[in-house]
Amino acid sequence: MKVIKTISEMVAWSREIHRAGKTIGFVPTMGYLHEGHLSLIRRAKALCDFTVVSIYVNPTQFAPHEDLARYPRDFERDEQLCRSAATDVIFYPETREIYQPDHFTFVGTEKMTGKLCGLSRPHHFRGVTTIVAKLFNIVQPDCAVFGQKDAQQALIIKKMVSDLNFPVQIDVAPIVREEDGLAMSSRNKFLDSKQRQEAASIYQTLQYVAAQYRKEKPDFNQLKKEAANFLNNRAECQIDYIEFLDAENLEPPAADRPVLMAVAVYFGQTRLIDNIVLS
Ligand code: PAF
Repeated sequence: MKVIKTISEMVAWSREIHRAGKTIGFVPTMGYLHEGHLSLIRRAKALCDFTVVSIYVNPTQFAPHEDLARYPRDFERDEQLCRSAATDVIFYPETREIYQPDHFTFVGTEKMTGKLCGLSRPHHFRGVTTIVAKLFNIVQPDCAVFGQKDAQQALIIKKMVSDLNFPVQIDVAPIVREEDGLAMSSRNKFLDSKQRQEAASIYQTLQYVAAQYRKEKPDFNQLKKEAANFLNNRAECQIDYIEFLDAENLEPPAADRPVLMAVAVYFGQTRLIDNIVLS
């Protein structure tokens, strides 16, 4: 496994792979890897000949008051995990390599970003689409794998790829959960033991609503209230949002189309997201 830190070396490696007629699968990450990331790496390996994992905590997707500085980092551990998953290359650049001091070009997908996480994190998706576009240009992957946990991110990236004609196939992998149902996330490490125990109720809330949804013709306002009550009765947390939107375009739900139930919840300072597709 190679660790590449510069754009020029990454571009040269990818060109060589393509010249040999082979394909590259790409998993962009911010590190502090867990089983969820490893499942993305396994999918990339199944889809392509070579696999690149990027590890880069992208500053432009954090607002000044957010957790950029405390975002967990452990490169040695990540390196071991990537090796165990038979990754071919880790792309591990520093910020001075990625963003020149005079960088001012950003990629935006306004229509899908002003909702769900985009409401409380208005800077976030512009930073995500910009770094993903840059990484696609640097790594030149044939396919890239994202996790369904970040459902809004996955849809926005699919739209960017389609609108800007990136020659990259986007694959979205299912959410990987802890035994009690909590979606795996690098931020789970910030939960104290009581919060960690109570955080499992996010998944229970999704399951509860899924059962209700199967039973009746859905009244989404009523379901939102019931979900909030269900969660608040089980956990000391602050709900950022509970929303129901079309699972493919984030428009209001329409009859006979899959519905995304998306949730964002604060446990203390730690913001967790999760979702389920109701169909
Ligand atoms: O999902 C993430 O970890 C990040 O948003 C991504 C896609 C690596 C961009 O920084």
